[in-house]
Order: sequence, then structure tokens, then C-alpha cells
Amino acid sequence: MVYDFESIIDRRGTSSEKWNLISQDMGPGNDDVIALSVADMEFKPAPEIVDALVDSARNDIFGYDYVTDAYYDAVVGWMRRRHGYELKKEWISVSDGVMPAINTALRAFTRPGDRVIIQEPVYYPFMSAASHNGLTLLNNQLVRDPQGRYRMDYEDLERKAADPRCKAIIVCNPHNPVGRVWDEDELRRLGDICIENGVVVLCDDIHADFTYPGHETVLFGSLGERYAGHCIDFTAPTKTFNLAGLLCSNAIIADESMKRDYDAAAQNIGGLTVSHAGMVACQAAYDHAEPWLDELGVVIRRNRDVVEDFTEGRSVDLVRPEGTYLAWLDCRRLGFDSDGLRDFMRSKARIYCDEGGLFGMSGRGFERVNLACPTRMLERALGSLSEALAAV
Ligand SMILES: Cc1ncc(COP(=O)(O)O)c(C=O)c1O
Repeated sequence: MVYDFESIIDRRGTSSEKWNLISQDMGPGNDDVIALSVADMEFKPAPEIVDALVDSARNDIFGYDYVTDAYYDAVVGWMRRRHGYELKKEWISVSDGVMPAINTALRAFTRPGDRVIIQEPVYYPFMSAASHNGLTLLNNQLVRDPQGRYRMDYEDLERKAADPRCKAIIVCNPHNPVGRVWDEDELRRLGDICIENGVVVLCDDIHADFTYPGHETVLFGSLGERYAGHCIDFTAPTKTFNLAGLLCSNAIIADESMKRDYDAAAQNIGGLTVSHAGMVACQAAYDHAEPWLDELGVVIRRNRDVVEDFTEGRSVDLVRPEGTYLAWLDCRRLGFDSDGLRDFMRSKARIYCDEGGLFGMSGRGFERVNLACPTRMLERALGSLSEALAAV
């Protein structure tokens, strides 16, 4: 390995939200608890990105920015190389985050009182984005097939999309927290239903760069003109390269009139903003840090395998992820209710994951485990979980 994915960096007492949540929720005296929650990584950024930021700090003037061609080229190049998506720079709208961009899109394409579809269990800020914009949620709940694989329920989707007040769907691909990477057929089928019913597809691809062998993220717009003309793909370098604090994302909107409406909505809430540091980091990441990401993939795969081995013969089950760096752990066989499971994980096992119920009722009894940490840290957490399980 060229890059360091082994060092354990103590983030307690820093501004890290993930580590601060422990003392915030559990009080002082819990420094032994290991944080495996919020979706950022326990790794320093790629040195290529750090060098670009240092260079920028030394030489740049931090005035108002416009987006340079070199930046657009970096984004276009990444989408071509990593996702086989040929897009034009004119389709890109920059933003300081995927959630701000999704909120902007909801303002552009819905009116208060309208309805928006989500697919629970799902990243919970989708729900608050809907409610902040005066929208009613329609839950097209994911279902599990006999092999335990999460699937979309198309009959239910058809019914919900046909509701005349339903104007948009927020899709998550790869899906946080269940780890599905939706394949081309699944996306087309969803797209056909939405196009037929005039429902705009807002596709959150923030985890797109994390897939396990045998799976590849298909960006919705890359399905072809008909689909591209009806969707926004929300992409970002921030999950991929652990840059969430730098605030940067790129929405891809192929349809001219949709792009105009989106950009107008963005201007209405203060403009198409992105931080200077975010742009510098994004460009450096996409242009120079690909080898770092490829090595990181090896670590994430190893960590997934560690968790999978751990579950063998124990009463917790891994929903095998196809993408993301998150593991969805089915703990229902332990027999706890939601509060009991949370207390068990935090107070007994001494690990702080995300409770499944946060992602919707259908997530109750599950825990979301963040795999993006040094393997030794994960093993330590699992060792402590193992002791707690033995005492149940
Ligand atoms: C599916 C998904 N979308 C969006 C975000 C947040 O994106 P941003 O920080 O760019 O708003 C996350 C972060 O965990 C996520 O998992």
C-alpha cells in the first residue's frame, strides 16, 4: 500500500460530529466508546488533495469565484472514466452539498402541498427536506426478496406516482443504508413509471464511487436521453475523498429547461455557491487522487469481509452491501426493542452506530455500521460487540 489507511487518528475532542455525538448523547466518561456512525471516514485525505489545498492557501486570493473550465473538465473526466457517463459541462450546477442541492430541486419542481416519494429505509434527511418544503411523503418502501436482497416495489410505485399531487421521487444509488446498487433494468423500470406520470427523478449518487466487485453504479442520466431529460443526478467528491467539511457537490441536469428552473431556484436562496477550498479539493481529487481511491476500495472490501466473518454463527446478520462504505446489520434476532438495541450497542457493546429506526420504521431492529475506518479499529469494535453478545 502506498497510502496510509492503517493509522488510527484520535478525533475525540475535535470538531468531528461523529465523535462528538458520543459525549452529546451518552454524557462524559464514555471515551472508550467507538464511533461507527456518521458517514465520513477515519482517514486523512489523499496527499494529492492536501498538496493542492496548501498550494491554494499559500497563493490564492479568496474572493468571489466563478467555476473554471479546469474544474468542469475534472468533473466531466471523472464521470467519463469512473462511470462511463459522457456529460457536457453545461449540464453541471455546482453547490455546497448534495442535501442543499436536493432541497433546491424540491423548491424548483414542487409546490407546498405536493407529494414526494422516498424509499424507506433511507437516508433520513430526505424526509426533513420534504417536510421543510411543505411536502407530504409517500413511502414506496423497499421490500426484501426471499434471498434477503432489497428490491423496489414497482406496483406500489406505480400507484404512488399516479397521484396527481406527486411531483418528485428521491432515489438513493447506491442506497444508504441498505447498500443496494440499483442495476440498469431496475432504474429504467423506475424511470419509465416516473416519466409516464410526470414525476421528476432526483437521484442521489453521493455514494456512487463505492461499489463492491460485480456491481457498478449507473448514473440515472447515463441511461439515455429520455431518462437524462427527466432527472437530476446529484454527485459529489465529498464521500469519495472524505471532504464533507469542504462543502462541494455537482448536480448534473441535462435538460435545458430543468436546469434553468433549478438554477433559478438556487439563485433565489443565495446563488449557486460552492467554497473555494471545495472546488480546489474536488479538482485535485478527480484529476490526481484516483490511485488513493483504488487503494481505499481494498480496505473497505476487507472491512466488509471482517464484518461478514464476524456474523458467522452469531445472532446478527449482515445485509451484504453491493455499494457504499456502510454495513446494514440485522439485529432483530437479538429480540430487543429499538431502545433496548440502542442501549445494548452503546452501553454494553461500547460502539456507537446509527440506529436503524432513524431511516424509517422498516429500519427498526437494524444498525448501520460505518466501515470506513482502519481495520484494527473495526476489529476492536467487533471484539467488544462479541463480548457483549456472549453475555446476552
Ligand atoms: C445518501 C446521502 N446523501 C447526501 C448526504 C450528505 O451530502 P452533503 O453533505 O453533500 O449534503 C449523505 C451523507 O451521509 C448521504 O449519505
